[in-house]
Amino acid sequence: APSAAPGVPHHVQAEAAANVGEPTDRTPGGSPESLPGKRFTLTAGTATVTVSGQSVAAWAFDGQVPGPELTATVGDVLEVTLRNKDIARGVTLHWHGYDVPNSQDGVPGVTQDAVLPGQEFVYRFRADQAGTYWYHTHAVSDIGVKMGLYGVLVVRPGPMSGVDRVIAAHTLSSVSLPEPAQEPVAAGTPMRLRLINTDSATHRYALAGSPFQVAAIDGMDLSQPPAVSETVISIPAGGRYDLVFSAPAAPIALSVDNRVVYSTGALTPSTSGWPVLDPLSYGTAQDPPWNRYDKEFTLVLDRGLDLRGLLPRYAHTVNGAADPDIPPQVVHLGDTVKFTIVNRSLVVHPWHLHGHHVLVLSRNGKAATGSPLWLDSFDVRPGEVWEVTFKADNPGMWANHCHNLAHAEQGMLLHLMYA
Ligand code: C2O
Ligand code: CU
Repeated sequence: APSAAPGVPHHVQAEAAANVGEPTDRTPGGSPESLPGKRFTLTAGTATVTVSGQSVAAWAFDGQVPGPELTATVGDVLEVTLRNKDIARGVTLHWHGYDVPNSQDGVPGVTQDAVLPGQEFVYRFRADQAGTYWYHTHAVSDIGVKMGLYGVLVVRPGPMSGVDRVIAAHTLSSVSLPEPAQEPVAAGTPMRLRLINTDSATHRYALAGSPFQVAAIDGMDLSQPPAVSETVISIPAGGRYDLVFSAPAAPIALSVDNRVVYSTGALTPSTSGWPVLDPLSYGTAQDPPWNRYDKEFTLVLDRGLDLRGLLPRYAHTVNGAADPDIPPQVVHLGDTVKFTIVNRSLVVHPWHLHGHHVLVLSRNGKAATGSPLWLDSFDVRPGEVWEVTFKADNPGMWANHCHNLAHAEQGMLLHLMYA
């Protein structure tokens, strides 16, 4: 089999592999029994959980927030049975950043009905993308995710070595961030910290005590990432960064918004004045894998008045319209597609396309010069213009929305539709 090229998503690689007999479809072939499998059951229900010493009313998978960490190895078939005990408004599982077959995408009203109390739904897909992902309900997602219906999905390329930890920053009602974890680690141990922002706002992460490399963003390996130190990483809503380094003799500490959430010993870092890493501008020049586009779409993000209800209310709009009135973006299988995303509003919109990773071409007219960046979640800040491209290679009807989930509920959601 061809070796995986870093920075190129699996579906692009799958094309290159097509003539050597590699599977190119995303649905598991053969009978489930004939494939290495990982089976999980997640039961959604109301629960009371303890966060920072406080009892908080939550909606939880298996009674815990975040839900159980699902782990698999590349090639496994994942089978996840979702049961709903008593979430009256229904629940689904969306595999954020995982480019699953459309039928497994977990969007109620689009790919399935919401799973109501007493019902269940079985998700099945092959884990052919290594990396850091997460799952969350997509039914009344703004409330559902805030109440706690989310968890971690990690797919490893093979057996793990060293320390491999997931740090998921979250907001549960008014209480945010995980309990600080401290573990002693021997000097020289290979470390991988997988940072996941499951919140609707951007958060700032900082690693003190060691230089590190950003090995992957949004589950996609970067090509030759430089070592950096004393640098803040700004992670958009929904986004993931994997940091790798070798444990130094002295302690390290990882903080989120200046609060330590993981450390290997007592260390009170001061991270003020650290610059923020810009992943678009480190590394070497890149050439896009294609330079003509079959379909080009412009998305202008703004705020407007929604006059359809009894009372006018503010909506977050795309091209002047709000969901469900935004026309779908129609593409054909195999099209190269370009999005130009313009933020004319005064707030950040973390953009998220389901079922595809997009290659960043430019921001504010400045071409991306770093490692090819294949993202599924990126902050489009006020006044910014992003150009991104992808190959339409995963047929279906896909949500394309702001991952500030309140904005999505208030209209900033449309669909990419394969004709
Ligand atoms: Cu993580 Cu449509 O969402
Ligand atoms: Cu938004």
